[in-house]
Amino acid sequence: MRATAIAHPNIALVKYWGNRDETLRLPANGSISMNLEALFTRTAVDFQEGLAADEVRFAGGPAGAEMSARVSEHLGRIRALAKSSLFARVDTENNFPLGCGIASSASAFAALTVAACAAAGLALEEKQLSRLARLASGSACRSVPTGFVEWQVGSGDSDSFASSLLPPSYWNLRDLVAVVDRRPKAVSSSEGHRSAWSSPFYRRRIDSAPNRLEACRRSLIDRDFGRLAEVVEQDCLLLHSVLVTSTPPLMYWKPSTVEIIQRVRRWRDQGLPIAFSIDAGANVHCLTPGDSAPAALDRLREIPGVLEVLQTDPGGPAVLTV
Ligand code: DP6
Repeated sequence: MRATAIAHPNIALVKYWGNRDETLRLPANGSISMNLEALFTRTAVDFQEGLAADEVRFAGGPAGAEMSARVSEHLGRIRALAKSSLFARVDTENNFPLGCGIASSASAFAALTVAACAAAGLALEEKQLSRLARLASGSACRSVPTGFVEWQVGSGDSDSFASSLLPPSYWNLRDLVAVVDRRPKAVSSSEGHRSAWSSPFYRRRIDSAPNRLEACRRSLIDRDFGRLAEVVEQDCLLLHSVLVTSTPPLMYWKPSTVEIIQRVRRWRDQGLPIAFSIDAGANVHCLTPGDSAPAALDRLREIPGVLEVLQTDPGGPAVLTV
């Protein structure tokens, strides 16, 4: 009754923000992402006789109350499917900072879903695993399939899941994550999703999402970096326009975040293919084709306030390990 899984976080190219159903995490718009190979969460789940409650450990120590409650709630869904009443011991670790805009809940809940289902003896297809991961954290459904992934908005619980658009080897895009703040954000994405509807710009963002999804799909299929850069940056800036105009306003950027945005746009004008994207955090994901990555990396490292730059290729699916 023990299983271990690894999952990668993902960077959304067209982002998920806001739910039309909070309990089922049915998104207001579809989204497209790329898994991040070099970053991962590893999670072991062991359903045991004799436990009075789930026990969650993070990086070798007891997990905080909030994380434990969210993990336990998800294990409850899996127990119900497996018709089991056993509690579990969960051991989880990450090789990257948590809760600061590098999609740690995506890899965490994708790995937990895959490990816990296997440990509970459930043999589910990828789309069922993705659907289940969505209930715990929206972006986690996109960390279940491989490579470049699209989450369908769906008509309800059964058909809102993610599937792979293209394998990781299709395009050697590199994500250079310029870390300017390693501290967990003060306001979680889950809270942000709830306040999205209070922004006067939110409706426009949702209504225009199908056009961005189509442009993003096409730019990936055609490996058209110029078009990808345009849609990724526009979607990111639309998201942050919603964030700063929500009640209460959510302002995740730091001065170095803005500095990176300005430099990235200048470098692109000068001929370096590079584009920025920022999730709910201050850190900046810089996308660039693999052959431009060394030059982009050197430039990013010179920016005052950049603590480190994480580098990753497109990543594979969530998998069981031994
Ligand atoms: C800005 O999936 O972290 O990264 O469903 O409440 O866990 P919950 O939210 P989460 O939201 C991700 C928001 C985002 C954009 C994206 O990844 O699409």
